[in-house]
Amino acid sequence: MKDIYILGIESSCDETSFSIVKNGTEEIATVISSQIDIHKNYGGVVPEIASRAHIKNITFVLEECLEKANMTMEEIDAIAVTYGPGLIGSLLVGVEAAKTLAYLYNKPLVPVHHISGHIYANNLVKRLEFPLIALVISGGHTELIYMDKDYSFKKLGGTLDDAVGECYDKVGRVIDVEYPGGPIIDKMASIGKHTYDLPIPLNDDSYNFSFSGLKSAVINLVHNEKQRGNNIRKEDLAKSFQDVVVDVLTKKTMHALKEYNVKNLILAGGVAANKGIRNKFQELCEENKINYTFPSIKYATDNAAMIASSGYYAFKLGRRADLTLNPLSTDELK
Ligand code: KG4
Ligand code: ZN
Repeated sequence: MKDIYILGIESSCDETSFSIVKNGTEEIATVISSQIDIHKNYGGVVPEIASRAHIKNITFVLEECLEKANMTMEEIDAIAVTYGPGLIGSLLVGVEAAKTLAYLYNKPLVPVHHISGHIYANNLVKRLEFPLIALVISGGHTELIYMDKDYSFKKLGGTLDDAVGECYDKVGRVIDVEYPGGPIIDKMASIGKHTYDLPIPLNDDSYNFSFSGLKSAVINLVHNEKQRGNNIRKEDLAKSFQDVVVDVLTKKTMHALKEYNVKNLILAGGVAANKGIRNKFQELCEENKINYTFPSIKYATDNAAMIASSGYYAFKLGRRADLTLNPLSTDELK
């Protein structure tokens, strides 16, 4: 069978990225240009600045990716691009680049949902095995998804308010750590002690999540301690907060695996880089004989390799977009 090379493009938030993946599983070359250092100054991603930075970077990132792969556009079989969800101005830059390349080089254009990309980041570690349950935990999403084959996504539940990554970043702000707070809180938690009492959010039998109450509880705790003139032990607060997050994510996911009688678990999204979450899932999966795959740390957060991998299966299923493709800031995973 002829090898299929997919060029992936990702620009939904603050990373400009291109990647070439062979046959859905073999990464040939990936380039990621992160804007974190710019947005750090504002405590979060500024959409207008993000789209301008994408425009500035996009052609250089493409050139570097082709160079790294030692390939030309002629050797690419199809172009897969994140069309949504995400920041509309940021998405627009990637989508326009994809349409231009598809038109210029006469290549099929394949639209990819950002979350399916996060799921297929695991496919670059190990070919997905079905049926599986995916716990999607990122800056914008917290969802449990059941899949019995490629591109069959059944949502079991999701967050009713904040996403878990958003909650990490907001907690980071109240304890004065740089954006994004997630990875820093994770590090702090590894040396802290669980000493602060925080509520376990939406501690029920559903597959839904809620993180805004937990976020408010942390904010109130910090304000109250400050008013009393007490110092916050940041590492201890990070550990206390992370323990609650780990507890609710693992409980609901393990429950779903049991109820659906599924033996394969994958984690997806930026928060899947979290050491505390990985360690607890590893322990529980080994105890319950569940096969687990986590995305590599570098491809847990946004990148185009995951888009190219997901794009390969969308391409094989005949999914195509034409030059009228428009980005969508929100869209159901399907
Ligand atoms: O998937 P991603 O790159 O962007 C979205 O699609 O949202 O995820 C970014 C999120 C941020 O909220 C960041 O704080 C979080 O992932 N994150 C982490 C860790 N690494 C990244 N959260 C907790 N622990 C980490 N180690
Ligand atoms: Zn993402």
